[in-house]
Amino acid sequence: MKLTRLKRIAGILRLPGDKSISHRAALIASLASGSSRINNYSTALDCSSTLDCLRQLGVEVSRNENLVDIVGRTQLQRPDSPLNCGNSGSTIRIISGVLARQPFSSLLTGDESLSSRPMGRVIKPLELMGAKIDSTEGKPPLTVHGVKEIRPISYELPVASAQVKSAILFAALGASGRTQVKESSLSRDHTERLFNGFGVNVTTSKDLTVTLDGPAQLVGGEITIPGDISSAAYFVAAAMLLPGSELTIEGVGLNPTRAEFLSVLNSWGAQISTSAVTHERNEPIGTIEVRGQQSNSIINEADRRVEKSKIPSVIDELPLLAVVGSQVPGGIEIRDAAELRHKESDRLKATAINLRRMGGEVEELEDGLKVFGPTQLRGAALDSFGDHRIAMAFTVAALLADGETEIAGANCVNISFPEFFQLLDSVSIR
Ligand code: S3P
Repeated sequence: MKLTRLKRIAGILRLPGDKSISHRAALIASLASGSSRINNYSTALDCSSTLDCLRQLGVEVSRNENLVDIVGRTQLQRPDSPLNCGNSGSTIRIISGVLARQPFSSLLTGDESLSSRPMGRVIKPLELMGAKIDSTEGKPPLTVHGVKEIRPISYELPVASAQVKSAILFAALGASGRTQVKESSLSRDHTERLFNGFGVNVTTSKDLTVTLDGPAQLVGGEITIPGDISSAAYFVAAAMLLPGSELTIEGVGLNPTRAEFLSVLNSWGAQISTSAVTHERNEPIGTIEVRGQQSNSIINEADRRVEKSKIPSVIDELPLLAVVGSQVPGGIEIRDAAELRHKESDRLKATAINLRRMGGEVEELEDGLKVFGPTQLRGAALDSFGDHRIAMAFTVAALLADGETEIAGANCVNISFPEFFQLLDSVSIR
């Protein structure tokens, strides 16, 4: 993908359905009583991987573009070939929880990137619940040997992770007794909200302990998936950084465990406002409005640091925040984010390499990045490292840069957001 500077961003957007919520809605519908209809299902390749796996497990799934109809089953069917999770960490980890309580064994595979990602974090609690999971030194492929009599557990997550929390909660649906999962910082809570929205009571206490009493039966129904706020982030950042921009994003998910980057950007001088309008099965949906302006506001020193309990709620936006940080007077620092080394790529390394190629000044730390700013970025030859979020974050960087930027392997945006470049074009003023 070749990109050059933009004058500004202007227009009104509606985005495809949220990737995280789509995975969960499809899994819930497959296990629920009755049939379910999912409107605005994510167009991400990752979410197609989830549907493909469910079909192989005997679930009746019909899809017409973004409309997905699913007939739930009380028991899944033994797959007769490996379940290919593609690039999707959410698919492999959360489905492992579903398979842990099916009375058969399933083989889960993935692409090269997924095959290098750590699975011990999901294997450990699911084995404590009674399943047995074979891996290659803690990495995929995984063979999940499910058991009918899965046990409830009380488990403290060593690293806050919505995927692991969700795997445990999906397994807990089949366990007789109380399952509790405790996190140190709150990760995205879509599973909790949707379980409550589809008939299974889940509570979260002040100390971030999530409780589910099993066995519990989900009840099918209809849902419209909110627009993906993590996809919105790239447009919001571009509009913030290009003076004169005026952008409205409608129908977008505003779950607080996902929307934290908006507050971070506002603390860095952005003019972003949100208005919540409706809820879909407990998920808030609303509008984001952004005005681009040259900011002269003074930035609070504490706000320059993105760290600790904030990290899980901005986890997918951190490469983008680093790009924005290169424009912030006095720069920014990201800490406590070693998790980024275990995403679709090593996102700390990939971000540092690309920013430096564009003339940015960055220090790569073990658990974060120190980004100096403001820097006038210059066009450069970049690599997506096969990682959709790196490709999109550096597309935003390219829109501010002098000269031309070329991003190799930019078609990996299809993993989460196939319409990205087309929608960007529709709001670009050159
Ligand atoms: C996701 C959770 C996050 C996030 C990923 C999607 C989910 O991963 O990075 O893109 O849908 O639950 P972790 O839970 O492993 O941090």
